[in-house]
Amino acid sequence: MQKLIIKGGKRLRGEIPLQGCKNSALPIMAAALLCNEECTLYNCPKLTDVFSASRILNGLGCRCSFSGNTVQIDSSTASETEISEQLMREMRSSIIFMGAMLGRMGECTVSVPGGCELGPRPIDMHLSAMRKMGIDVRETGGRISCKASGKKAKGAKISLFFPSVGATENIILCAVTAEGETVINNAAREPEICDLCGFLRACGAEISGDGESRIVIKGIPELHGCEYRIMPDRIAGATYLAMTAASRGEIILTNACPTELEPFLTVLEQTGCSIYSDDDKIYLRSGTRLKAVRDRIRTMPHPGFPTDAQAVLMAALVSADGTSVFEENIFDCRYRHTEALVKMGADIQVMGKIAVVKGIDKLNGANVEATDLRGGAAMVIAGLSADGVSEITQIHHIDRGYEKIEEAVSALGGDIQRV
Ligand code: EPU
Repeated sequence: MQKLIIKGGKRLRGEIPLQGCKNSALPIMAAALLCNEECTLYNCPKLTDVFSASRILNGLGCRCSFSGNTVQIDSSTASETEISEQLMREMRSSIIFMGAMLGRMGECTVSVPGGCELGPRPIDMHLSAMRKMGIDVRETGGRISCKASGKKAKGAKISLFFPSVGATENIILCAVTAEGETVINNAAREPEICDLCGFLRACGAEISGDGESRIVIKGIPELHGCEYRIMPDRIAGATYLAMTAASRGEIILTNACPTELEPFLTVLEQTGCSIYSDDDKIYLRSGTRLKAVRDRIRTMPHPGFPTDAQAVLMAALVSADGTSVFEENIFDCRYRHTEALVKMGADIQVMGKIAVVKGIDKLNGANVEATDLRGGAAMVIAGLSADGVSEITQIHHIDRGYEKIEEAVSALGGDIQRV
């Protein structure tokens, strides 16, 4: 089992390029199944979740090859309609293949992805939307079999009770080649939804309204291949910015996405850092101890403060001057990293969805276990700003979403080793 060993206390300084976005690479890889031709994806991050998605594509009969950060997917040979339970379990977001398989083959068998590190991950909205689109959905023993009553799904008007990212993606994937028009009300507005729609439009799909709460998709008979560049990863961006801020350092993030990061940057600015952005660059400087964030940090669907950045910002604020208050509104169980931060000396009280963080002078290095992807990244941030040495185990969680995190941190001058 690999682990990260971090010697804290270095001021991070330097310029690094931001990796491509995991949460748009995954649905876009699923979307490539809808094209009967080859697709080339640039800026694809090399992550274990991306490799899981490529194993799913292989299992369905597609060819998938990597060269650096470019992936070529040829789905002209796709023939299978089932994803094994084991592959479904490798990655929770495997469920987004459901919409793509229904769009391409008109049927699929998948598994319930189950609960995970963040609490229960129900898929009720995904399934009820598929039923509205004329799909016969049967659930037996954890397996879900779906079949379009004709050969194709039918366009429908769907109103989500919550703007779920995954449900919005599944509906879009099922709708682009469905018969007729699909309207999604209360759709998720995350930038990754726009990236998926950008890819689908490049393949010929007719979609409008992405980035807003009402998305309209006109079904067309088939999609063609394309070349597409995946957007930068705003959450990896938030992580490296929070990390540098906590270390009182200075960073230039290149290949970044300042507009998409705005909800995070607005909050980070309250800590007293200087932040400037320009096209695809973000510059941050934090010379002194951070200030606590005055306003309550409420995680909300985009354009609210992203739940995926809650843990990494918290890791920076545990040693800020004053008290910061978080309110986690998206997932039930997204404070599991707090135990490790407390072990390192942080003063955090969790009461249901609220976490009260009283800034302390300095964290102490400790041996901790990554609990989940963003929680693990928070521990890296804490380790880098702590006195002494920290060891982080269970780093497979971190590798799901950060491309060689130790290389990015080392490039900024941090003392970190993977052993
Ligand atoms: N929900 C339901 N029923 C459903 C679907 C969702 O109740 O049918 C609930 C969930 O339980 C959760 C909330 O709705 O409480 C939001 O879930 P959503 O469906 O929006 O999340 P997701 O699609 O499962 C994606 C990202 C997550 C990110 C969330 C929220 C991917 C692959 N995953 O998950 O990313 O936290 O949106 O923005 O895109 C991460 O990268 O660390 C990560 C967890």
